[in-house]
Amino acid sequence: IVTEFEASVSADMDDQALKQLRAAYLGRNGAIAAFRSTVDFASLSPEERAALGKELNEATARIEAGIAAAKDKDGPTSNAPAVDFDTTLPPMTSGIGAIHPITAAQMEIEDIFRGMGFRTYNGEEAVTEFKNFDALNIPADHPARDMQDTFWLENGMVLRTHTSSMQNEAMRDFGVPVRAIFPGRCYRNEATDATHENTFYQLEGLYIDEGVTVANLIAVMKELLDQVFGRDVKVRLRPGYFPFVEPGFELDFWTEINGKWRWLELMPCGMVHREVLKHAGVDPDRYSGFAFGLGLTRLAMLKFGVQDARLFNKGSLSFARQFTATL
Ligand code: PHE
Repeated sequence: IVTEFEASVSADMDDQALKQLRAAYLGRNGAIAAFRSTVDFASLSPEERAALGKELNEATARIEAGIAAAKDKDGPTSNAPAVDFDTTLPPMTSGIGAIHPITAAQMEIEDIFRGMGFRTYNGEEAVTEFKNFDALNIPADHPARDMQDTFWLENGMVLRTHTSSMQNEAMRDFGVPVRAIFPGRCYRNEATDATHENTFYQLEGLYIDEGVTVANLIAVMKELLDQVFGRDVKVRLRPGYFPFVEPGFELDFWTEINGKWRWLELMPCGMVHREVLKHAGVDPDRYSGFAFGLGLTRLAMLKFGVQDARLFNKGSLSFARQFTATL
């Protein structure tokens, strides 16, 4: 029966023809049923019965499979081109991705600060004018509030222009003493070039306790840079002005650039202004502390030799693929 079926089934039969063929073999009056009716099962031994039953099941299965195969070829996939699998081609590589260089720099610095007892705090990117400016003693007529520099949202909030926007809530949320870093994305409404991006990353640090002095600030900054650059780094402070620190500094470090050793301005910092402490409900006669604003984008440029800050935000795969760090 199966031999006969296989001779008559063909891939170019349509659904209707296959249905008829199936009925002719497997239907109530089909060939298999007709064969069954000729067998006197009762006269067979149990072994013979089992063997015949098995054979009939197999025949049924082969006919079903033959019909399914013929249908398949005639089905919706029949128009698809035949695919030749070329076993000589190299295998496809699996793209496991890499850590973005800014993230890599951030994780390294978070690690160093964790070792010095600092907690990491992630704040909001859209903040009130108060947190970004007023709480930081930045006067209403300060040029930084200008339409040129700040992205104002329609609801009156701003895209934070610096991570200092988190100082107030960190002191309020954790109370003092507090040792925290706040990494994050910042925005400034300005023209971009190789060293200026309107979207960039900073990593702020804040340390408030009784009796904190400039000596603590220098010690922590030097420890950070020693670990980042893997050597005994020379640092210096120059006066710098920011409304939220007093005194305020620019921290430079001694480094080699294009074969020449020189001071490179790296980090604005200073002792947290009394007004900033007061805004956060901290008693400035009892507590003091320092803050610094590390330019994470800038540090990643130095660390990885990236010449153009805009590359970090481009989403370019050819750029990203040059960094192979993974978790
Ligand atoms: N927030 C300042 C800036 O973005 C940097 C800064 C942080 C300066 C903390 C002093 C202390 O330029």
